[in-house]
Amino acid sequence: MNRLPVRKAVIPAAGLGTRFLPATKALPKEMLPIVDIPTVQYIVEEAVNSGIEEILIITNSNKHCMENHFDRSYELEKRLNESGKTELEKMIRDISDMVNIYYVRQKQPKGLGHAVLCAKSFIGNEPFAIMLGDDVVINDDGEPALKQLIDAYNEKGASVVGVQTVAHDQVNKYGIIKPLGEIKQGDRRVKLSGMVEKPDIDSAPSDMAVLGRYVLTPEIFDLLETQQQGKGGEIQLTDAIVRLMDLQAVYAYDFEGVRYDVGDKFGFIKATIDFSLNREDLSDKVKEYIKELASQL
Ligand code: G1P
Repeated sequence: MNRLPVRKAVIPAAGLGTRFLPATKALPKEMLPIVDIPTVQYIVEEAVNSGIEEILIITNSNKHCMENHFDRSYELEKRLNESGKTELEKMIRDISDMVNIYYVRQKQPKGLGHAVLCAKSFIGNEPFAIMLGDDVVINDDGEPALKQLIDAYNEKGASVVGVQTVAHDQVNKYGIIKPLGEIKQGDRRVKLSGMVEKPDIDSAPSDMAVLGRYVLTPEIFDLLETQQQGKGGEIQLTDAIVRLMDLQAVYAYDFEGVRYDVGDKFGFIKATIDFSLNREDLSDKVKEYIKELASQL
């Protein structure tokens, strides 16, 4: 069993963002802000707070401004400094100092499994994390979602996918797990016997969906290399993880935290409202506005 520490994370960000057109015609969807922070920054912060040391973002030709966001901006820092806005200057510099970020392009949009395969040489022979940018998870009172998965990995030395229960009529939007045996009351971790990518609602093996966090052993790469197209004609990560189960144990971990589907318009609106209610500088005004609106509905 592979017991190296989980040091690296992969963030696939090569999607076209079609659900947010026209905003994403020239702007990567990962740069759309929740209040004033781009969604990808929340993901990177979660990685850093989970102990990740190096991040690889899988991009395409339309994602330059994401690279600029995590780079130094000497001119902006100088101007902020000259105008005495030193707090802003520090905040801008901190973004580029957070962690080492590398980039590689996925040359063809062949699916999530194919995007992850682009990370093969960066990861090498270590266990690693995958974090999907559409799933922003906030766990104010506890450990970040990824840290919970890394802890589960460290206990078992085996791959772990992060799951939460979703409404039954939503199972066809996700990778759905098939637990091996009964899940005991209060058990967050369960061994898997299968997983299905976006099953039909009537044939889903459970209501527990993989929500954008994975810790996988590097054996996944050999499987991804030979993975045939699956759902939607794409090379699916889910299908390769199912094949991994023939070689090693794979677990699901029901992580704590509120997860927002920011790849969906309504999910994005909910995140914007919740995050602004949590901001000292905005919460009073937003609360007042929501009350006023609600009284007219
Ligand atoms: C991807 C995965 C799916 C997972 C989901 C979580 O699907 O393929 O298994 O449940 O992310 O957000 P996508 O939403 O990219 O179609």
